[in-house]
Amino acid sequence: MDNFVFQNPTKLIFGKGMISSLSKEIPLDKKIMVTFGGGSVKRNGVYDAVKSALANHDYIEFWGIEPNPSIETLRKAIALGKENKVDFLLAVGGGSVIDGTKLISAGLCYDGDAWELVKKGRYMKTVPLATVLTLPATGSEMNSGAVISRSETKEKYAFYSNFPVFSILDPTVTFTLSKRQVACGIADTFVHVMEQYMTTPGQSRVMDRWSEGILKTVVEIAPAIRNGSNDYDLMSDFMLSATMGLNGFLALGVTQDWCTHMIGHELTALHGLTHGATLAIVFPGTLKVLREQKKGKILQYGERIWNIVEGSVQERIDRTIEKTEEFFASLGLSTRLHQEGIGEETIAEIERRFNERGVAFGEAANVTGSVARKILESVI
Ligand code: NZQ
Ligand code: ZN
Repeated sequence: MDNFVFQNPTKLIFGKGMISSLSKEIPLDKKIMVTFGGGSVKRNGVYDAVKSALANHDYIEFWGIEPNPSIETLRKAIALGKENKVDFLLAVGGGSVIDGTKLISAGLCYDGDAWELVKKGRYMKTVPLATVLTLPATGSEMNSGAVISRSETKEKYAFYSNFPVFSILDPTVTFTLSKRQVACGIADTFVHVMEQYMTTPGQSRVMDRWSEGILKTVVEIAPAIRNGSNDYDLMSDFMLSATMGLNGFLALGVTQDWCTHMIGHELTALHGLTHGATLAIVFPGTLKVLREQKKGKILQYGERIWNIVEGSVQERIDRTIEKTEEFFASLGLSTRLHQEGIGEETIAEIERRFNERGVAFGEAANVTGSVARKILESVI
């Protein structure tokens, strides 16, 4: 196990009716800006619950943070926040609203254009931020990352700043998620675990088993929730799996991959394809192309999650990759680029971008432009 320093300061407030605790969690002397997406919260009661909890607080609202939050929208929010001297942010929504609000929280403390912060990749001067999560998927409610897009240039980059001070997770708010949003949330959760697990074998038994615990949970509940569900216990497990999947707990002292995400972000940037849907296509390709490098972990995952124990090593690896694809397909997601109308032109552009940026992703730092091309070609 590698050395590590670990600190996750986010307070989790979990359960039915817990949105009401906003009234005591945010100090009364704060000038709050509450941020929202496109309006789903008005249709499922979340907006009313937030409004009533903040009845005695001083706040303004900012609406319209879109899926894959864009710098163009966030600049407007930062301007509004500065104008009103906002010193506390409350993000109410999915990963996009939360991520966008992380950039707003840094942008409020920065004099230049916020895109400069995204290009820097990190900015630690921020105003405090809290969240009411409505979509289990990204883990953004309990991590310090964000992913920000620029529509003008079709770019999408990761950015790091502050952890939320607290996050409220009420599983009942997920009852209104569509089949597609649940499927993409499951795929995202699954691949977050994989990015921290599907690397080098034998680094930590405890990390392996925490990851496998989440993978098994997600595989077990998926058939019951994949069309959307209002089963409180199942959606609670989904919600907590997503949060635990990307809050740092699975990565202690072990190597990480993230090449699937980096390729997936380009597919979203270039085609607008939903984040989780990109991963369902790319991840099986990563396993195919890096099967030798990841052999030990693929075998362990195949045995412990899918009970694949028969046959030669190569047969077991093949079967494990097939099972993974079948799992994503069972959620109604595409597992091939052509199903989404994506072809060679996009592969060439992603290869070009990776080469131009000089990047080499993955636990072995070997996923360059040409390896990304191979991964995408294997799932064309
Ligand atoms: O905008 P509204 O009207 O609220 O509707 C949203 C949105 O259209 C809707 N929705 C959310 N909660 C709902 C609901 N509809 C009905 N009922 C509810 N309870 O769902 C749509 C998608 O929301 P979005 O926030 O975009 O989804 P998600 O949470 O998957 O976030 C995706 C973004 O997070 C980034 C992705 O790249 C993408 O930009 N990621 C962030 C990460 C992080 N911060 O650590 C890691 C991830 O790997 C990911 O890259
Ligand atoms: Zn993700």
